[in-house]
Amino acid sequence: MIAELKLDFLQFLETKIKSKEPKNLYDPITYILGLGGKKIRPLLTLMIADAFGEDYIKAMDAALAVEVFHNFTLIHDDIMDDAPLRRGNVTVHEKWDVNTGILSGDAVMIMAYQCFDKYESKTFKKLIQLFSKTALEVCEGQQLDVDFETRNDVTIEEYIKMISLKTSVLIACAMEFGAIIANADGENARKVYEFGLNLGIAFQLQDDYLDTFGNPETFGKQVGGDIIENKKTFLYLTALINAKNSDKVILKELYCTKLEENFNKIKQVKHIFESSGASEATLEEIKKYTNLAFENLKAIDIASEKKEFLKQFGQNLMQRNA
Ligand code: IPE
Ligand code: IPE
Ligand code: MG
Ligand code: MG
Ligand code: MG
Repeated sequence: MIAELKLDFLQFLETKIKSKEPKNLYDPITYILGLGGKKIRPLLTLMIADAFGEDYIKAMDAALAVEVFHNFTLIHDDIMDDAPLRRGNVTVHEKWDVNTGILSGDAVMIMAYQCFDKYESKTFKKLIQLFSKTALEVCEGQQLDVDFETRNDVTIEEYIKMISLKTSVLIACAMEFGAIIANADGENARKVYEFGLNLGIAFQLQDDYLDTFGNPETFGKQVGGDIIENKKTFLYLTALINAKNSDKVILKELYCTKLEENFNKIKQVKHIFESSGASEATLEEIKKYTNLAFENLKAIDIASEKKEFLKQFGQNLMQRNA
């Protein structure tokens, strides 16, 4: 069923998003949307609508809105993170330039809003309200992420808050969209949202883990990018707590500045992440939040085979290599 949902969604996306003049505004949009990606957010919207007994086709436009918005965040995120690679290809601001990335990003965000046009007013209002709240939260999370690069007193609690904002809320929103379109009651919609929040935290922890320990052949992004950018990830924060004192000093020193040449920095940091047990602890933390998510899932009022399907999807997500 996942393969079928994905195919339907990709066909829908292709009919809706096309390049036009001016090319320098729209080509970067069709470029990034054409690079693939896992499409987990739209799939979750469709799966949740289906789980509540709705025809998932009705959720296609909302699913598209989320994916289109996600691609906006990626274009701007890659500028902010100075990232050279996205989905195994050169990033928009490297292929064109930063200004093109800014404006194409803005345009694609507006296109996301247009996706809601076809919903009738009651549903439209609910979707837009949640979407706008979520979009602002993502901006808050992205700002915190950047602020943390130059702070050396970030706590794990602050980190979890930051990733909830930059990543989880959009996953939770995508899922609640499915519940809204299926007319699920408020209580169930809230439970779906909670499920998405915890799944999203596990997902971002996994993204951080792969950023350091992923296989460059399959990851599709620059491995070590978070280390280069001094990102205060769970790996880093845990290593700072658990590493031996001499390694703590090295780690802090390495995260003081941004370097031109990062080969040795990445090698040293990776070693400390492993020897301090931070890499193991991150895997444990991913499990913790995945299990919390599955507890949330249990409480949702949907058929048990739908729960099993969603659980399977969540489990596969945590086994990914991209
Ligand atoms: C990347 O999201 C940004 C994060 C929130 C970690 P995905 O890992 O879902 O990216 P694609 O869409 O599959 O490329
Ligand atoms: C993802 O954070 C958050 C958003 C894109 C909003 P990352 O910066 O970790 O995402 P990747 O690793 O570049 O995909
Ligand atoms: Mg990034
Ligand atoms: Mg980022
Ligand atoms: Mg990342």
